[in-house]
Amino acid sequence: MSNKSVEDMNEIVSLSKSRGFIFQSSEIYGGLGSCWDYGPLGVELKNNIKDSWWKAMTYREDVEGIDASILMHPQVWKASGHVDGFSDPMVDCKECNSRFRADKIDLNAPCEKCKAKDSFTEPREFNLMFETSMGPVKDSASVVYLRPETAQGIFTNFLNVQKTMRKKLPFGIAQIGKAFRNEITPGNFIFRTREFEQMEMQYFVTPGTQMDAMEKWKEIRFQWHLDNGLDADKLRWHDHGTELAHYADAAFDIEYKFPIGWDEMEGIHSRTDFDLSRHAEHSGKNLNYVDVQDGNKKYLPYVLETSVGCDRHLLAIMCNAYTVENPGEKEERVVMKFKPHLAPIKVAVMPLMKKEPLQDAARLILANLQKKYKCEYDIAGSIGKRYRRQDEIGTPYCVTIDYDTLEDNAVTVRDRDSMTQERIAITELQTYLLNKFGF
Ligand code: GAP
Repeated sequence: MSNKSVEDMNEIVSLSKSRGFIFQSSEIYGGLGSCWDYGPLGVELKNNIKDSWWKAMTYREDVEGIDASILMHPQVWKASGHVDGFSDPMVDCKECNSRFRADKIDLNAPCEKCKAKDSFTEPREFNLMFETSMGPVKDSASVVYLRPETAQGIFTNFLNVQKTMRKKLPFGIAQIGKAFRNEITPGNFIFRTREFEQMEMQYFVTPGTQMDAMEKWKEIRFQWHLDNGLDADKLRWHDHGTELAHYADAAFDIEYKFPIGWDEMEGIHSRTDFDLSRHAEHSGKNLNYVDVQDGNKKYLPYVLETSVGCDRHLLAIMCNAYTVENPGEKEERVVMKFKPHLAPIKVAVMPLMKKEPLQDAARLILANLQKKYKCEYDIAGSIGKRYRRQDEIGTPYCVTIDYDTLEDNAVTVRDRDSMTQERIAITELQTYLLNKFGF
């Protein structure tokens, strides 16, 4: 059997739309640039990804979770450096008014949209934060920002969590949440969008131990991507070396080989005490940690950050799962080979025909299975077509109820990847699936 993996992002875009994973935002109005809506299968997949991250990161002794608000005091962004420094250089084409990132194009070449020559404005710094206003009066005093990263909600809650949960260094705080950036050149589907979700953790450590923490978290984070099914040969490290942000003393990215090429999926950065010291300075509050194990010494911890884009990981999962078996042949089939814990639908329940006794038996099985698993009840079309549809959305198992079921109380279970079929007693079905899934 010959297999083809994804070559072009459009294959994923079109399957996402036709099968209900991801739709263009506000599509009936012509769409809104770089904003996407997750459909019924997309939201299941996304929730499963978030669940796998949350369990991996917070079901451990040394990490607590939080859920901070999106809107924060405007001083937070002054302290973090985002008001003054979170910008990209931008140029406009004077002919067609298209906007480009000055560092991403050749300013001496013609405009790539309208082909006009020498049409670019001088580069200007463009802040990526979205502004809105709070309260009834819209003036400069009411300006607040949609957070461009979730991390600052963790820094501002550092002492709240440390004290209430009686944490000792080293410990981490994790959260999942929306972030917003007015990107100048978003694109490539959900790879770079203006509204996205981050899964971030700040690990607070005694100064001097940050490189040990870096090694530990590099290993844990890389393994998480493998455990979710990404191929090892499509993952690699990028070491920032000496090209570091002013607050960092080491930085590594986990890159994935997307159809558009290798690009960043997760950052693991050693941020020193930059953020906590800036917040201490701007808020006037003492954010020192009191180290009872070291003679009540008071100091600001250093921070090791892990930050992965949920949407970007989801895109990698979709690209990696996409498989065309026997391309161009009569037996061609498209299969999304999701790991079972991520698959949006775990089991499809299918009566062979629409006849009542088969449907009654099938609905009983469905009612039992969906107490535990997200299932789909599928009666439309031939059984072959139904199998193909479930393959395309990555459902690991299809359970078929036929006339024999009414006699022998058994069903046919079909495996997505091997396409093998087994006859299983209805009373054994839950145990069979538990053994297969491991959950
Ligand atoms: N707190 C650190 C931070 O925000 P970042 O490298 O700017 O670091 C971290 O972002 C991760 O968030 C990236 O590796 C990427 O997965 C995701 N991300 C950033 N900007 C994004 C965008 N415009 N669209 C989708 N994901 C984005």
